[in-house]
Amino acid sequence: MLDTAIRNATIITAGDRYTAQIGIKNGRITAIAEDVGPAAEEIDAAGMWVMPGGIDAHVHLEQPQGEDVVMADGFESGTRSAAAGGTTMVMPFALQQKGQSLREVVEAYHAAARGKCYVDCSFHIIITDPTPSVLGQELPALVKAGYTSFKVFMTYDDMVLNDAQLLDVFDAARRERAMVMVHAEGYDAIRYMTRKLEEAGRTAPYYHAASRPESVEREATHRAISHAELTDVPIMIVHVSGREPMEQIQWAKRRGRNVYAETCPQYIALTADDLKGLNMDFEGAKYVCSPPPRDADSQTAIWEGLRDGTFDIFSSDHCPFRFEDPMGKSLERGRTSFRWVPNGIPGVETRLPLLFSEGISKGRISAERFVALTATNPARLFGMYPQKGTIAIGADADLTLWDPARKITISQSLMHHACDYTPYEGMVVTGWPVRTILRGRTIMLDGEVTGTPAGAYVDRGISGAFGGA
Ligand code: URP
Ligand code: ZN
Ligand code: ZN
Repeated sequence: MLDTAIRNATIITAGDRYTAQIGIKNGRITAIAEDVGPAAEEIDAAGMWVMPGGIDAHVHLEQPQGEDVVMADGFESGTRSAAAGGTTMVMPFALQQKGQSLREVVEAYHAAARGKCYVDCSFHIIITDPTPSVLGQELPALVKAGYTSFKVFMTYDDMVLNDAQLLDVFDAARRERAMVMVHAEGYDAIRYMTRKLEEAGRTAPYYHAASRPESVEREATHRAISHAELTDVPIMIVHVSGREPMEQIQWAKRRGRNVYAETCPQYIALTADDLKGLNMDFEGAKYVCSPPPRDADSQTAIWEGLRDGTFDIFSSDHCPFRFEDPMGKSLERGRTSFRWVPNGIPGVETRLPLLFSEGISKGRISAERFVALTATNPARLFGMYPQKGTIAIGADADLTLWDPARKITISQSLMHHACDYTPYEGMVVTGWPVRTILRGRTIMLDGEVTGTPAGAYVDRGISGAFGGA
């Protein structure tokens, strides 16, 4: 007998939409049929849409920030928030600080995560110190062990890689067949803009956006693409904010380059004006993230890209700092200049509802495209398809039941994160996740995250970008 049967399901995958029953046994989908037979647990999904559980391929949890700043979410609260928002798997970043061995970093991150995750989890690695031994010895061993993706930065004092280092990392990625995620913003241009703004007394959070205009992102995106062409490696440009960097990605895709792209909720739901706060005040710090949200024309461009395949995945870039906290956004230094305000905003819980509502409910994208962007493509590009990211026999029974008609006003009081605000306060969405199922077990029902943390670490294969799944 089955463990669970989901009856009357409108099943939506990246390619299909149909009505059927889903049978689950030992955490996996074992039957999809008109009638899957008897089961110990019955779930009636009448009126609901059943989609693959969301995979959020870009979240920051418990990431070290230096001495006087602390990230709001660790694994427990961050993954609880993910489950509440219909996400069944997150991919946070194990950060290498200069001088650290990658293996050490990964082991410490596992220790931090162990026993705390409500959803499944797998790590990318941030490389900040690409020494010959890191790239020649540690990285190959870690890729073989299933850490098949990493991130590099073209900005931030303590993380930036110069062009020679980027090329070395890309070269190692091609050799080892690992996916490189690139934070594309030009370091020197941002430093120049920051100095000019500060000299002019423009230090409010709003000027964070002015310090990193779209041209800075466009230039770095083009540079990363050119380096990837030289080294002949696939790359993914992450958190793309608007039309100009998108045009570089479209140019590369047209030339047949293996360039993938990610965008995030802040680029469809916020603009740089949000950084003005109430009257150019510190409230604007709640929206400080990099790249910054842009303008209405950029939002239009992002929707075009979500529809036409410029974007492959839609992630949250959840990077939460508490607002009323001297170790968060309200850092003393941050009050003196935007340059010190911790970069990042929470969003793991609101990622799917915002895309569902603004995308599907408003007729901008199909439900199938939603699934591709939020589950199937991340699974393919990060080496875990078809175990994850689809509804198929043999796949993990990671499922989200959506009420496509439910109207909800997003508010901090609904959130399960440990942050003290949501940047999407007051936004009304249509479509809401009402049940999240992780490997056959209900982990969220009607807004309540149930049970103890039972998320598992997922070992990954090589990215589909190298010709895999
Ligand atoms: O502002 C952001 N996005 N902070 C998170 C770190 C990153 O660059 O992804
Ligand atoms: Zn980044
Ligand atoms: Zn990020």
